[in-house]
Amino acid sequence: MENRIKELTSNAELLIANASDLNAINEVRVRFLGKSGELTAVLKGMRDVPVEQKPMIGKIVNEARDIITAMVEDKLAALTASSINSKLQSESIDITLSSKKCKKGGLHPCSIVVNEILNIFTNLGFQVKQGPEVETDFFNFQALNIPLDHPAREMQDTFYITDDLLLRTHTSPVQARTMMDSQPPIRIVNPGKVYRPDDDATHSPMFQQIEGLVVDKGITLCDLKGILETFAKTLFNEKTKTRLRPSFFPFTEPSVEVDVTCAVCGGKGCRICKGTGWIEILGAGIINPKVLDNCGIDSTIYSGFAFGFGIERITMIKYGVPDMRILFDNDNRFLKQFN
Ligand code: DAH
Repeated sequence: MENRIKELTSNAELLIANASDLNAINEVRVRFLGKSGELTAVLKGMRDVPVEQKPMIGKIVNEARDIITAMVEDKLAALTASSINSKLQSESIDITLSSKKCKKGGLHPCSIVVNEILNIFTNLGFQVKQGPEVETDFFNFQALNIPLDHPAREMQDTFYITDDLLLRTHTSPVQARTMMDSQPPIRIVNPGKVYRPDDDATHSPMFQQIEGLVVDKGITLCDLKGILETFAKTLFNEKTKTRLRPSFFPFTEPSVEVDVTCAVCGGKGCRICKGTGWIEILGAGIINPKVLDNCGIDSTIYSGFAFGFGIERITMIKYGVPDMRILFDNDNRFLKQFN
């Protein structure tokens, strides 16, 4: 009996040592320690052992069971640890690999220019105000001293919706709306989309404008020139010069067109300024007293100036864009250059 147990123990030891995975060690455990295992069978045979030998044999069997159990548990722990380790290794993540680039959106160059311009004017104390794109004939034309059937309407070809409703042709109606619901001092800029049935390299049926308006006591053309000079120097560069040329708009008297020295050649003359060194950027003037009166502001007490310009045009000048349609194509190769 004693020898059998010794043999069994050393058999178990060998099998445990050779068990190479969790299945194998479990098989060994069942083979020796399971309900119908080899050591269990020896324990069952104890009833045939003579009484005087029982304590001694019993001790040997128990010791053998403890030894085999301990060996199985050690091996089980070792195999579990190595399976976890190999899993960790095979499933490891290489954190030194560079990640996939995430594509970021950016602002359209016109939006960049609008933001810059609004920044300049708000720093000068102007408030930003917006108005409707579907406008009445009254605010788009009549309040601005362009009566029905007046030839001045031909300056701005118009998309009509009904006889009285239209897509605004300029942001100037916002000055009429503002003057009708507030009293001076007024200092506002109005950005927004405007519409005219034109479509070529320098015109688009939808484009953006910013209108500016100042109304107070004693406002003159000098104030207008000062504000526009500051604006041009900040938007383009410190060396930019400004010049006013006489012009005509029904809503201003006198009216001017404003040129700046070409931002591309600095005034020497180039393709962008067609060799003149100057580029026209906006229309402006002293508000026609008729417009002030139309809008409920006493023209014997107050005066003001107004100006309006196209954002696409300024964007083209600022970035040297040769054709306005590029601004509307939304080709990523073009847009990416601004962000
Ligand atoms: N509204 C004019 C246009 O769209 C631009 C303009 C000229 C606005 C003179 C003004 C101004 O406020 O005083 O062509």
